Amino acid sequence: MRQRLPVKPAFARGPLTTLQTLKHVRKNVLNIIPQTALSEKIVTDHKRPRWHMVTDPDLLRRVLKDNVDNYPKSLVMKALLRPGLGNSILLADGAPWRWQRRTTAPVFAPNYVRALGQTMTTATDQISRKIARKAASGPVNLYDDMTEVTFDIIANVTFSGDEGLDGKAMHQLINDYTYSVGKLSLMDLMAVPEWVPRPSHLLNRRTIKALHRQAERAIDLRRELGNANRPDDLLDLLLRTEDPKSGRRMTTKELRDNLLTFVIAGHETSALALSWAFYLLGFDPERQAKARAEAQAVLGTRTATADDVENLPYIRAIIDEALRLYPPASLVGRAILRDDVLGDTKVFAGEAIMIPIFALHRHRELWDAPDDFVPERWLQTKWSERRYSYLPFGDGPRVCIGASFAIQESVIVLATLLARFAFEAVPDKTPEPVMILTMRPSGGVWMKVTPLNA
Ligand code: HEM
Repeated sequence: MRQRLPVKPAFARGPLTTLQTLKHVRKNVLNIIPQTALSEKIVTDHKRPRWHMVTDPDLLRRVLKDNVDNYPKSLVMKALLRPGLGNSILLADGAPWRWQRRTTAPVFAPNYVRALGQTMTTATDQISRKIARKAASGPVNLYDDMTEVTFDIIANVTFSGDEGLDGKAMHQLINDYTYSVGKLSLMDLMAVPEWVPRPSHLLNRRTIKALHRQAERAIDLRRELGNANRPDDLLDLLLRTEDPKSGRRMTTKELRDNLLTFVIAGHETSALALSWAFYLLGFDPERQAKARAEAQAVLGTRTATADDVENLPYIRAIIDEALRLYPPASLVGRAILRDDVLGDTKVFAGEAIMIPIFALHRHRELWDAPDDFVPERWLQTKWSERRYSYLPFGDGPRVCIGASFAIQESVIVLATLLARFAFEAVPDKTPEPVMILTMRPSGGVWMKVTPLNA
């Protein structure tokens, strides 16, 4: 029998102690978001160091744009990710961030993203064949397949070709790294400075070294041998790109940290958007049929390309709605450099800001039917009308650099698979939204998959 609402995690009903918070943070960060974040503009936790959860569009505009220099990236995020990603674009602030953003932005310009569409189409075709094979022997966990296809895409657009890089080994290393990184410690929570070594970092050291070695080898080989016979990938583009202001180019270490950042920031998030979209379409067979009708009308049975994306508005709306209900980056953080006032709340240097995107997207004052799956809402509403109340990719100068890349690949994959297969939810296998670093469908997204033109 159909459930009334798609699955959602429990919010915290009252204040939590530090130890309770730590327990939730390690098991499911979403459980520390208080119920009141769905109705208030800002919720403050008065334990030291204090933090403030902000869910009001005007206040968020101040944090993310108007007073952005006062709110650098969160210390916890830096402590967790720096050992692997260095001071890459994701973690740097101020001038080191500015020059990396200036230098990498051109490679995510619309014409480049469109040119990367061929890689997305090829990887989609491969995963479609694999799903067809797996479907013959029982239900399929689409979360695995979505992770595979988005990894193939990002690995091929960052380090294409086979020189120096073992894609499978790298995927395993990245999985090991993100898994261990998610294990936030009490030291992180209590804002113990970054230079104090965390036990998890020590365990992680070997994985990180291996990951760095792989990436550096691929970069060095490319510098030496070039990429004569293949279309340019992100590594080629970044090797050629210089900072438009200073003329400076990236060193091997800077290239390594940024390319690994693209792989890590760009594959799991997109896999999650797609996995949750499939969950929602299993939950709502009528909307699945509507989406399939659109996909088949545009594609027939061929694989979607970048040029098809603008002709698939309903598929796009499903992605937009999946990103609203299950934003992969559900909670992002900022530090506070100088005292400031947010609405009626004074915030002080040394405290923390949390942006619970998950709660913002279900805020009672901002959304009609906030917990319902209604992709149609995106057919009438443009993202630009929802600035700072819809933040799947953040906003302001630190907005996700890969947003249009992610939308393009998600639409290509979802439309192609919907045109070729019917998906039916497996009873008693509802995934649970669990956030460690990103919001994952714990238990997997299991579907009975039926090929349509067999
Ligand atoms: C559905 C997929 C994706 C989601 C939901 C997502 C979400 C986000 C969010 C919320 C931020 C802002 C974080 C903050 O303000 O603290 C961000 C930043 C970033 N994302 Fe994404 N992302 C996705 C895909 C990608 C892809 C495909 C790439 C690269 C190929 C990418 C690379 C980055 C980078 C480099 C940043 C940091 C930008 C900066 O600080 O200047 N992301 N992403």
